[in-house]
Amino acid sequence: MSRVFVTRPIPDNGLDELRAALGAEAVDVFPHDRPINRDELLEGAAGANALLPMLTDPVDAEVMDRAGASLKVIANYAVGFNNIDVDAATERRIMVANTPGVLTEATADLTWTLIMAAARRAGEAERYLRAGEWDGWGPQQFLGVDVNGQTLGVFGMGRIGQAVARRARGFNMRVIYTTRTPLDAETERAIGAEAVGFETLLAESDILSVHCPLTSETRGLFGREAFQAMKPTALFINTSRGQAVDEAALAEALHEGAIFGAGLDVFENEPAIHPRLLECPHAVLLPHLGSATHATRAKMASIAAGNIIAALQGRRPRHWVNQDAWPA
Ligand code: GLV
Ligand code: GLV
Repeated sequence: MSRVFVTRPIPDNGLDELRAALGAEAVDVFPHDRPINRDELLEGAAGANALLPMLTDPVDAEVMDRAGASLKVIANYAVGFNNIDVDAATERRIMVANTPGVLTEATADLTWTLIMAAARRAGEAERYLRAGEWDGWGPQQFLGVDVNGQTLGVFGMGRIGQAVARRARGFNMRVIYTTRTPLDAETERAIGAEAVGFETLLAESDILSVHCPLTSETRGLFGREAFQAMKPTALFINTSRGQAVDEAALAEALHEGAIFGAGLDVFENEPAIHPRLLECPHAVLLPHLGSATHATRAKMASIAAGNIIAALQGRRPRHWVNQDAWPA
């Protein structure tokens, strides 16, 4: 019998699918709703045929070796998979899978939540109201920046970047983007976006939103130099991975007024937040909620379960990340 180790309780529909396909006994769920610690992860992985980790769980060679030769598949409960050492998995002929597609629209919605909240200082103003400090309407209270008619810059024009760009049409925005794999002309036209170099993206964006995967090229890419090259009225938005940003440099840029505001859903050292960033009233900070809707998390559970079931039944997982590197 197979054993699947799930590192944190996920929506029941995914667990039910695993139990239906592999037997109730096969599914071993870490019982606590908190991030699993290293020792618990190593212990849970031992002898597993499949792992279903969260993006908060570093799955490296040691975890894989603890599981041993029985381990066939690691199905991350996320679209991002920078928490998994994919090269180590490939060397051990372990399939790595993720949950793309189903969280695109929810993440794009959350990106716009941050854009609007940062532009109009919603977090700061709500804190003020709740603190009982509001003494009535004021002609110069909490003045923000416009969104309508501005230029949206998208860094990383994949599925999520495109979904964010599509929403900009309703705000009559010019959309520029920088990306690794350029869009074909037809998609570019349909989205109404214009490819530009990184310098232009920094210089011309009123709102710069980051949607790249975390790689050696994107780690720390948004640092002091980048923020100094942006408009003082600009907003910096990140719903991808915190390590693309030098958080200390971003906090300094906000404090100095090098940019107007920021909206962040992801952080360099989650769940720790840089203390200087916490002191920035113009930073809207959310606890990694990009895909956090009931419907989306249920779909992610189903996809992750499906990836595991396929791999353990000798079929190809639908979202197989290291497929291209697979030894022949
Ligand atoms: C969320 O950050 C994800 O990668 O799914
Ligand atoms: C920093 O001081 C900010 O205004 O966000």
